[in-house]
Amino acid sequence: MDHFLYRNGTLHAEDVAIPDIAAAVGTPFYVYSTATLTRHYRLFTEALSPLPHLVCFAIKSLSNVAVLKTLGNLGAGMDVVSGGEYLRARAAGVPGDRIVFSGVGKTRDEMRLALTGGIRQFNVESEPEMRALSEVATSLGLTAPITIRVNPDVDARTHEKIATGRSENKFGIPIARASLVYAEAATLPGLQVIGIDVHIGSQLTELEPFEQAYLKVADLTRRLRAEGHTITRLDLGGGLGIPYRRSNDAPPLPTDYGALIKRTVGDLGCEIEIEPGRLISGNAGLLVSGVIYVKHGEGRDFLILDAAMNDLVRPSMYGAHHDIIPVAEPPVGAPRQEFDVVGQVCETGDTFARGRDLPLVAAGDLVAFRSAGAYGAVMASEYNTRPLIPEVLVQGDQFAVIRARPSFDEILNRDTIPAWL
Ligand code: LLP
Repeated sequence: MDHFLYRNGTLHAEDVAIPDIAAAVGTPFYVYSTATLTRHYRLFTEALSPLPHLVCFAIKSLSNVAVLKTLGNLGAGMDVVSGGEYLRARAAGVPGDRIVFSGVGKTRDEMRLALTGGIRQFNVESEPEMRALSEVATSLGLTAPITIRVNPDVDARTHEKIATGRSENKFGIPIARASLVYAEAATLPGLQVIGIDVHIGSQLTELEPFEQAYLKVADLTRRLRAEGHTITRLDLGGGLGIPYRRSNDAPPLPTDYGALIKRTVGDLGCEIEIEPGRLISGNAGLLVSGVIYVKHGEGRDFLILDAAMNDLVRPSMYGAHHDIIPVAEPPVGAPRQEFDVVGQVCETGDTFARGRDLPLVAAGDLVAFRSAGAYGAVMASEYNTRPLIPEVLVQGDQFAVIRARPSFDEILNRDTIPAWL
C-alpha cells in the first residue's frame, strides 16, 4: 500500500495534487511520501518485535538526507556502503551507534572516517579487509566492532545482477571457511568480533532462499560459539521484494518475513539487524514526467517523455518493469492503446517499456512511474548533459524540494579547462 491515489480525478501524493508540484518544480521530478516511508519502516519494526532489533535502512536505495532524517527520527538505523553514505547518515542526525558499514571494498580512509566519527559495526567482507581494519583501528587506538559477512551459497532466485549469495558472487567469505576467518579475527588487535552478517540479494519474491540462508547462519552461530567466539548480533541483510506490477505481483509480507526470522534465528538470544532498502523506499516514490510528443511510427506508437534512462535506469539496466499511469485519472472505459514509452536520450536502450497498454495520453500530459523511490534518483546520471532532476518530499498537505534541479551554469562550472588550452 502507498499514499499515491487518485482524488477527484487527479493523482495525489498524500494530500498534494501532483500537477501542483509539477507547476512548482517543472518535470521530470521524483516525489516521495513521508507516510509511506513511515508505514514501511514500522512494518519491519513491528514484524521483528519483541526480538531486540534494529532496522537499518539501506541508504543506497534512496539517499536524500531529508528522507534519511525522516526515518532516523523514527529510530531507524542506517546501512551505508561508502564514506559518502556515512556522511549522509550523519548529516541526517543519525548517531554513529545506529550506522552499520557494509560493502565489499571499504578503503582505509572510509574506515578511518567511520571509526573516528562513531560506528555501530563494520560488516567485514574479506580477510584482507579485516587485516586492514585491524591496522587502521590500532593506529587510531580504537576498537572496531565487526561482524563477518558470510556467503551462504544460496540461490536468491532474483535478477542475476542483484543476486549476491552464491559462491561465484564477489560478496562475503565462503561459509565453509568461517571457522578459520573467525579464528584469525580473534587474534587481530583493534577488532572486536560481535556477530555474523549475511545478505543474499535484492528483490526477492520468495521467502525460501532467506530461510535457507538464515538456517545456515543459525548453525554457524552455534558452531562459532562452540569454538569460543562471542556472537551477540546477527545482521540478516535486506532484499525483500516489492510488487512492481500492481495487478499481479504478490511478494511476501514483512510480517511473514519477521515470522521467518523468529523461526530460524529467534532462539539464539542475538540482537537482530536487517537492512531493507527497496521495501521501505520503493513504493514511497514516483517519477513524474511530462509527455513531449506522441509519435506514430511504423507499426508502433511512441510516447516520448521528458524523463529518460539517465533519470531512471532500471528498465534499461535490468529490463525492470515500472507501472506507468496517467496523472489525470482516465474515465472508466476510456480508450487504451499500446505505446513504446521512451526518453530523449540518443540510444535505443533509452526505452522504459515496449508495447505497454496505456490509457490514451497526449502531448503535454503528465505520467507517473510507480515504485520509483528505490534505486531511482540514486542511480541517476547527467548523461546527455541532462541535469539531475529534483526530489520532492510530501508530508500531508505540504511539500518541499529536497534536492533542487542544478542550473546549467552549475553543471558547466564543474568542468575546468587546463592551462594549456
Ligand atoms: N544490504 C546490502 C549489503 C545490500 O547490498 C543491499 C542491496 C541491501 C542491503 C538492500 O537491499 P534491498 O532491501 O533494497 O533489496 N540497483 C538494483 C538493486 C541493487 C541492490 C544492491 N544491494 C535495482 O535497481 O534493482
